[in-house]
Formats: sequence, structure tokens, C-alpha cells
Amino acid sequence: MKIIREIAELRKYRAEQQSGGRTVGFVPTMGYLHDGHLSLVNRAKQETGCVIMSIFVNPLQFGPNEDFERYPRNEERDLDLARSAGVDAVFLPTVEEMYPSPIRTKVIVSDVTERLCGASRPGHFDGVATVVMKLFQMVQPDKAFFGMKDAQQVAVISQMVNDLNLPVEVVPCPTLREQDGLAMSSRNVYLNEEERAQAVVLSRTLDQLELWAREPGMTAELLEGKMRSSIEAMPLARIDYAEVLSFPALQQIQGPIAAVSASQESLPAAQWIAALAVRFGSTRLIDNRIFQGGVRLV
Ligand code: PAJ
Repeated sequence: MKIIREIAELRKYRAEQQSGGRTVGFVPTMGYLHDGHLSLVNRAKQETGCVIMSIFVNPLQFGPNEDFERYPRNEERDLDLARSAGVDAVFLPTVEEMYPSPIRTKVIVSDVTERLCGASRPGHFDGVATVVMKLFQMVQPDKAFFGMKDAQQVAVISQMVNDLNLPVEVVPCPTLREQDGLAMSSRNVYLNEEERAQAVVLSRTLDQLELWAREPGMTAELLEGKMRSSIEAMPLARIDYAEVLSFPALQQIQGPIAAVSASQESLPAAQWIAALAVRFGSTRLIDNRIFQGGVRLV
């Protein structure tokens, strides 16, 4: 596995893949790898000839009071995991390499960034879109693989790719979970034992949705209420948001949920998302499910 730290070297590696006729799959990450990240690598290996992973904790997407400094990092372990997963090259730039001078050009995606994490983390998606745009320029991937764990991120990146005609295909991949249902996340290591036990309430609540959604007359608002009560049953849980919106447009839904149909949005046929962000102590966890009518998709 090739370890690359400089942009110039990455560009050279990319050009070699091009002349060797290999398609390039890209898996951007912030490291502290877990099976969720590695499932993206697996998918990339199935679909492309060469897999490049980036590991970069991007300061631009963290707010001033967020966990940039204490975000978990372990380069040696990440490299071992990436190597065993069959990654061909890892790009590990420093902050200075990515941002040699204060950045004055940013990618700002409107609308899909207004709700959910965009509302509770102002500027977060500007930082994500900007760094992903920079990485796309450096790696020039044929396909880029993103987890639906961060469904709004998938919506934002897809919007950017469409709006700016970027020559890359965004491939959304399913969320990997622990045995009890908790979505895998680098931030799960922050949880103490009691918080970890209660954190299962996110996926358990989302599991209930399929049943709730089929109740006659069910609306987005009623579902949000049911999600809130379910989460609030856990004494350590503090809700950041519990929302039901259309997906991928992330707009409010009017009327009965089961009637959400292709007429509400353009293709693909209208889907909706139930999305949660919940704090346990200082740890903020997110999870979601995507549905079509009353039927769960992801
Ligand atoms: P990070 O949180 O490290 O996640 C990297 C990729 O792994 C994202 O596409 C994310 O959705 C995916 N992922 C995380 N947990 C997952 C799980 N349990 N199952 C499946 N996929 C999962 O997301 C970022 O980094 C950053 O915002 C980044 C895109 C790298 C830009 O800095």
C-alpha cells in the first residue's frame, strides 16, 4: 500500500493509474477507522481498479466549540486496517499541506444544508463541501464512496457534484452497525459504559418507525413526536433533533406520510428520511433511516 503525504505525489500516482487504464475509487475519511469505513473500501474494490483512501481530520468542518482537537487519531492502526482491507494508496496530508494559507474560496451548498446537522452545526457543511471538492480535484476519482450514516452529507455532496458538473459518481453505501444496532462511528469511543448502553435507543427508535409510519393518518409531525418520546425515555439522552423530511431534498413533508409519492419530488421516486441527533454527555451521535411510503429502504 502506497503512503502519500504530498499533493504533488498524489497527482503523480493518479496519473500512473490513468496510464495503466485503471479506474479510481475514492474513500474520503477522517481516520480512526472502523468496519463502516472498511465497508466503503470493499464496495470501492468491487467497482473500481484502484482504491485511494484519504485520512484527514478537516479543521474547516469543526465549529469553534467542537471536538477537532480531541477527535480520535491513530495513524499506525489506521494504516494497518487500510492495508488489510486492500486499499491501494492512502493520502495523509497535514493541515499545512491542505491549507497552506487561510482559505478564501469555499463551496457553499444551499437549501439541503439548512436543516438537521446544517442547522445545529453552522458552517459544518461548507467545510465538508470545500474539503471534498479539494480532495476531488487532487484525486480525480471516477467514483467516490460515502456512507448513508451521514445521509445529509450524501445529499450535500450529490448536490455539489450535480450543480458543478463534477466528473465523479457518488456511490451511497449502507450504514454498518454494532451487534445491538448502534451505528458504527469514530466518536463511539467517547461514550462511557452507561452512555453506551443507552445509545442503542437511536437505532431502536428508528426500528419502530416502520410500524408507526403504517398507522392510519400518520404525519411527519406525529412521527417526530413519537421519536422524541422514545428517545426521552433514556435519562442520559438529550435530543439535538428528531426530524422527518423528504430525501434527498430535505424539505418538510405535508400530509399523511404513507401518501408521500413520486409526485412530491422529481426522480428518484420520493423518499423520506427519519433523522436523529442525540447527545450523551458531550458526545453527539447521529443515525437515520430512509423510507419510501411506509417501507424502509436503508
Ligand atoms: P468520517 O466521519 O471519517 O466518515 C468517512 C466516511 O465513512 C463517510 O462517508 C461516512 O458516512 C462513512 N461512515 C461512517 N460511519 C459509517 C458506518 N457506520 N457505516 C457506513 N459508513 C460509515 O464523513 C467524514 O469522515 C468527513 O466529513 C469527510 C467526508 C471525510 C470530509 O472530511
